[in-house]
Parts: sequence; C-alpha cells; structure tokens
Amino acid sequence: MSKGTAVITGAANGIGQAYAQRLAADGFDIAVADVVDASTTRGLIEATGRRFFSALVDVTSPESTLQFAADVAANLPPVVALVNNAGIYPWKSFADTDYALWRKVLGVNLDGAFLMSKAFIPGMKERKLGRIVNVASSTLWLNVPDMSAYIASKGGVIGLTRALASEFGASGITANVIAPGLTNTKSMRSTNEEIFEFLPKLQAIPRTLEPTDLVGVVSFLCSPDSAFVTGQTVVADGGQARL
Ligand SMILES: NC(=O)c1ccc[n+]([C@@H]2O[C@H](COP(=O)([O-])OP(=O)(O)OC[C@H]3O[C@@H](n4cnc5c(N)ncnc54)[C@H](O)[C@@H]3O)[C@@H](O)[C@H]2O)c1
Repeated sequence: MSKGTAVITGAANGIGQAYAQRLAADGFDIAVADVVDASTTRGLIEATGRRFFSALVDVTSPESTLQFAADVAANLPPVVALVNNAGIYPWKSFADTDYALWRKVLGVNLDGAFLMSKAFIPGMKERKLGRIVNVASSTLWLNVPDMSAYIASKGGVIGLTRALASEFGASGITANVIAPGLTNTKSMRSTNEEIFEFLPKLQAIPRTLEPTDLVGVVSFLCSPDSAFVTGQTVVADGGQARL
C-alpha cells in the first residue's frame, strides 16, 4: 500500500537521491523535479516496487513548478510530502559575488522552496495533510567564509519554513528544516575537495558525513510520528554546530 507521494526536488543526484530511496523504502511513491535527467533515481526507486514520476523542472520557474504539480497529480497518488532539496553552492568570495550570482543562488535555494510550496500546499491543505521539509545547511552556525549568497539563502529557507509552519499548522501541514553538515557528494567534492581533509575532524563524530546519514531525519519529518513537530530545524552534521 502506498503512503502517498513524496516530491523531492534535485533528486537526480546526491543527497536528494538518497532521500528518494529512503522515502520509497518507507512506502512513498516518488516524484522528482530536477533540471537534469533523473533516470538513475528512477531505476533505484522502481527496483523497490514503488512508482516514480519525474520531469525536467527548473524550481525557479513559477510556470514549470505549477505544471509539475498538475503532472504529479495526474500520474501518482496524492502528495503527502514535499522535500525542497534542490540547491546550488558556488564557493565565492563576497568580492566575486556579483548581483547576478547572488540572484541565482537566492533563486534556486530560496525562491525554489517558495514556488514548490505554492504549487503543492493547496492540495495538502485540501486533504488536511502535508509534510514539508526544507533543506538548509550547518554553515549558518559556523565560521564559513566565501559563501555569502548561499548562507543568506539558507537563512531565508529557515525563515520561510517557520512562516509556513505558523500559517498551515491548523491545516494539518507541518514544515521543518534539515540542516546537513558537509556531505560527501560529487558536487560538493568538485566544489571544495580540500575541506573534506579537515572539517570532519572538527565534528563530535569525526568522520565524513554520507547522504545516508541524513535520510533518517527526513524520514521522520515526513512520517505521522512527527505530526506535532513543526517550525523546527534539525542539524545533522555529526555534532559540530549546536543550536
Ligand atoms: N553536500 C553538502 O555538503 C551539503 C551540505 C549542506 C547542505 N546541502 C544542501 O543539500 C542539497 C543537495 O546538495 P547535494 O550536495 O546533494 O547537491 P547536488 O549538486 O548533488 O544535487 C543538487 C541537485 O539539484 C539540482 N538542481 C540544481 N538547480 C536546480 C533547479 N534550478 N531546479 C531543479 N533542480 C535543480 C541539480 O541538478 C542536482 O541534481 C542542497 O540544497 C545543498 O545546499 C549540501
């Protein structure tokens, strides 16, 4: 029996793909919105016996995100969970961050979560059931230079999440944040390989964080067990940042 559909953005790769695998194992059918082909994720999900739908969607586009919500509704069971995971993290000094780059990072990381929420909350509200999980980053609480646009965007994600929690708590919809620490993905390794040599040693659990270390938090936040948890941020970074 399907538990409904979980929508995950940016799940063609990296951490999002691991979220998709775990939520499929939990019993959700999976819908993926990504700017690149998600056929690897499709293979992994369909192997579990769950249904899968994906489309090439830029989360910064109001039209594409609304069309995606209509397409998911036509192809899969009702959406219960939305994980706004798509994100970009150019490592640039403030001097090298021009306005176009600032807008791009805010666009994908923050506007994307807003637009996907606009597209999927109406259905959740109608059914009086929804789990929104937004993705921030432990960089918000740490001394990390050269990420001004990124850290600003992730602060915005936490603000948006708290606002959604307040506005939709009476409608059966929760909104929470997972804030991962430095995680072993191809994208992060190609962005900053050197940081993997020293940062994990600063964590209470001094080893490299893998995407699979994060999936239990998202599983819980999408489950009925978290029905009374909303507006919260869970840092999953091996115990470096402390809230
Ligand atoms: N890897 C880390 O160390 C780390 C740490 C903290 C937080 N995070 C956050 O976790 C999330 C995933 O990170 P990752 O390392 O798996 O990255 P990744 O690059 O492996 O995956 C991100 C996915 O988002 C997609 N994407 C990018 N722009 C998009 C857009 N406009 N519309 C739709 N999809 C788009 C990409 O195609 C890609 O598949 C991001 O939000 C990131 O900020 C990552």
